[in-house]
Amino acid sequence: MATATAPVKPARPQIHQTQLFIGGQWVPAMSGKTFDTINPATEEVIAQVAEGDAADVDAAVHAARQAFDEGPWPRMDARERGRIMFRLADLIEAEIGELAALEALDNGKPVSDARTGDIPFALDTLRYYAGWADKIHGQTIPINGNYFCYTRREPVGVAGQVIPWNFPISMVSWKWGPALAAGCTIVMKPAEQTPLTCLRLARLAQKAGVPDGVINVVPGFGPTAGAAIVKHPGIDKVAFTGSGETAQIIMRQAADQLKRLTFELGGKSPNIVFADADLDAAAVGAHVGIYLNQGQCCCAGSRLFVEDKIHGQFVERVVEMSRKRKVGDPFDPATEQGPQVDKAQFDKIMGYIESGKREGATCATGGKRVGDRGFFIEPTVFTNVKDEMAIAREEIFGPVLSVLKFSDMDELIRRANATNFGLAAGVWTRDVARAHEVAKRLRAGTVWVNCYDVFDAAAPFGGFKQSGFGRELGERGLDPYLETKTVTVSLK
Ligand code: NAI
Ligand code: MG
Repeated sequence: MATATAPVKPARPQIHQTQLFIGGQWVPAMSGKTFDTINPATEEVIAQVAEGDAADVDAAVHAARQAFDEGPWPRMDARERGRIMFRLADLIEAEIGELAALEALDNGKPVSDARTGDIPFALDTLRYYAGWADKIHGQTIPINGNYFCYTRREPVGVAGQVIPWNFPISMVSWKWGPALAAGCTIVMKPAEQTPLTCLRLARLAQKAGVPDGVINVVPGFGPTAGAAIVKHPGIDKVAFTGSGETAQIIMRQAADQLKRLTFELGGKSPNIVFADADLDAAAVGAHVGIYLNQGQCCCAGSRLFVEDKIHGQFVERVVEMSRKRKVGDPFDPATEQGPQVDKAQFDKIMGYIESGKREGATCATGGKRVGDRGFFIEPTVFTNVKDEMAIAREEIFGPVLSVLKFSDMDELIRRANATNFGLAAGVWTRDVARAHEVAKRLRAGTVWVNCYDVFDAAAPFGGFKQSGFGRELGERGLDPYLETKTVTVSLK
């Protein structure tokens, strides 16, 4: 029995929405099919969700097309668009406890993480872009001759948005925020592992006053519903977050229509600790950098480069903290790490752990499944890792850290950049000049100095190289949802 002082375990949330949301209506899939969404902590089925495919996507695109071509959303006073978006954020905030529990149930992340991290960030993002709605404007340009030339920033049209399962609510806000502010309409496919909170947010958007057809949500699988979004001629632009393999398929399929694309893909981010760093802070940064969200972060600091002078003592700290990390029930307020999202991710991670051992790295801690039900994995640290090992090159997307040793700056930069990825990086040092030098020389979209995983709705995020193209968040995050029109008027 809970005592008066013990933190209260949140109640299991109600499941309200499991159907498709098309043109403001909740409808079953035309095929009548459903799929199970499961609780990764228990492997039990949470709910059956309508399984959309090409026919449902077609209906959703028609609704979005009509809402864009004839509806009020792109035409209304931009301040009113902003007000509706602020209202959506307020409605989400009013349900934060319930939404956090639903996110934890579907995804497996600790409910406290969802409540204090994911959802507040989603609120910030929606409010940040709500503020942009009435500040999107063009320029006047002094061109040669007797002309008046100006640009208009117009919405790109219907946006197809395909998102992954690692941060379901945040991903919705990253995608809806700039699209709605710009005046676009939306067909979204949430990940098949985590459809529930996205559907709940669609309900709240309608309640906030987003007109019917502006936001449509079609849960389903990638090769069916996802591919139908990519191929549909009624969609002007596709925004995708997920794996590089899927991005390649999307790029090929979008080529026929030269569809606009933005991609936010994976990483193998270096987190670099120099001997002069504040080692207490760096150890926390190394820990959070790899383990946040069960290691299921595109920007995970999965290659920990440690200067040789401090390697032994620093690794000891990192291993010690890993051993103490609390893995367990996402609904227990003391839990720091929940299960991986599904069996496929669990198997992929365990496969990498085996490959690390096989290739001769030292498993300093972890390496095993936790319990026999649910997809829990021990926080795992590999030392004696060589740059060419799979665990040092490929995205594991789990709680598995590879520690590498370095001694020389030029060698460090070369090795840190020797990857096809370029999403993020961390550097820990007290030397200001060195911090800026490393920040400049790393080929990555984000560099954190003496911190890690510091996100803000106002700061652009995205990848160099095969980590993607285009930026999300900040002013740059609006660009993919806007066309620039040049109007030239003769004054002769
Ligand atoms: P995925 O890229 O296959 O799935 C992401 C989304 O794309 C889901 O909504 C999925 O249904 C959809 N999708 C899949 N195939 C599609 C297609 N042909 N056309 C359109 N949409 C499609 O990623 P998955 O399989 O869930 O995870 C595999 C690996 O990808 C992970 O282990 C991780 O390494 C990486 N990943 C990276 C993420 C990131 O934040 N950058 C997020 C999720 C996964
Ligand atoms: Mg996949």
